[in-house]
Amino acid sequence: MDKKALTDRLNHDLAGELSAIIQYLTYAAKATGPFRPQLSEFFLTEVADEQAHAQFLANKIVALGGEPTTRPHEIASAGTNREMLEAVLAAERQAVADYTKRAREADEYGDKGLAVQLEDMVRDESTHAEETERILRDWPL
Ligand SMILES: [Fe+2]
Ligand SMILES: [Fe+2]
Repeated sequence: MDKKALTDRLNHDLAGELSAIIQYLTYAAKATGPFRPQLSEFFLTEVADEQAHAQFLANKIVALGGEPTTRPHEIASAGTNREMLEAVLAAERQAVADYTKRAREADEYGDKGLAVQLEDMVRDESTHAEETERILRDWPL
């Protein structure tokens, strides 16, 4: 794994974080029904974490001599509260898988600081996924 390959993969992850920010902002606006206040607040709380991840990645990409992407990935369209929660759960599980892999790659590259940071992000995304899964577990509609 050379510097260019690592930077490209971190840019893929940054695009994922940019999507997550937009996804949560949009879903917070779209949440409806009696659970709208809690759901909207839950989605907005996630934005802060994803923004911190995006900020870290953009800085790291520049530190490695790369150019941070400004293009998010495609965001899953979701019409109902349940569809939004399911789309969020899928995205968070994907983030856990991506950062687990990326932490290993950072270790192979020889950047222990990056590997540790990426492992912290695995923990954050795991918490997001677990919270979402627990909300969905008894979702009434
Ligand atoms: Fe994130
Ligand atoms: Fe997340």
